[in-house]
Amino acid sequence: MFISFEGIDGCGKSTQARLLAEALQAEGRAVVLTREPGGSPGAEEIRRLLVEGAGERWSAETECLLFTAARRDHLERTIRPALAAGRTVITDRFADSTRVYQGATRGDLRGLVDRMHDLAIGVEPDLTFVIDLDPETALGRGNARGGAEDRFESLGLSFQQRLAQGFRALADEFPARVRLIDGSGTQAEVAARIQAAL
Ligand SMILES: Nc1ncnc2c1ncn2[C@@H]1O[C@H](COP(=O)(O)OP(=O)(O)OP(=O)(O)O)[C@@H](O)[C@H]1O
Ligand SMILES: [Mg+2]
Repeated sequence: MFISFEGIDGCGKSTQARLLAEALQAEGRAVVLTREPGGSPGAEEIRRLLVEGAGERWSAETECLLFTAARRDHLERTIRPALAAGRTVITDRFADSTRVYQGATRGDLRGLVDRMHDLAIGVEPDLTFVIDLDPETALGRGNARGGAEDRFESLGLSFQQRLAQGFRALADEFPARVRLIDGSGTQAEVAARIQAAL
């Protein structure tokens, strides 16, 4: 199975992706835990171009091309080989993040995003968990974490509120694939909601 985690910055994706991977490994499954942008050596190089530097470093169109190039490499080098070997793949972000960030909030580029996805990627996860958390709480958690990868978080709270709406809308657009998970409460409480949905 191919599973993705999505949601705004600091909502708990990385934490919950790791907890789910650990739970499935404890059941004896072979799990590959990966992330975007990145997840393969070439895509990790592209990640550095995307997540560091000034908030307006790239145009929305260029950013979309970089994300798509990174995703294609991730798919070729990491995701497809793992699925072919019978492993469960859990990715911290996938194409939905591009749909929401570039398509919905950075210049109404959803049409371009969809065409690039169809041309270069063409697959969706079997199951997507969107972790829904109010942006102020999420931003507080994200800022507490620190680090250099703050280009998106530096774009501010109203941006995060538009993103949160975009992520919630995915559940309506892709009801067969996307499960909205309440991201409030402790890590264990959120993990239990994800296990129940799985
Ligand atoms: N349920 C929770 N309650 C409190 N803190 C949490 C919870 N889940 C995660 N955190 C903490 O909040 C911060 C952000 O969590 P995490 O890194 O998992 O979010 P993320 O969605 O991956 O963020 P980003 O989009 O920035 O990568 C971390 O410091 C993490 O330890
Ligand atoms: Mg993360």
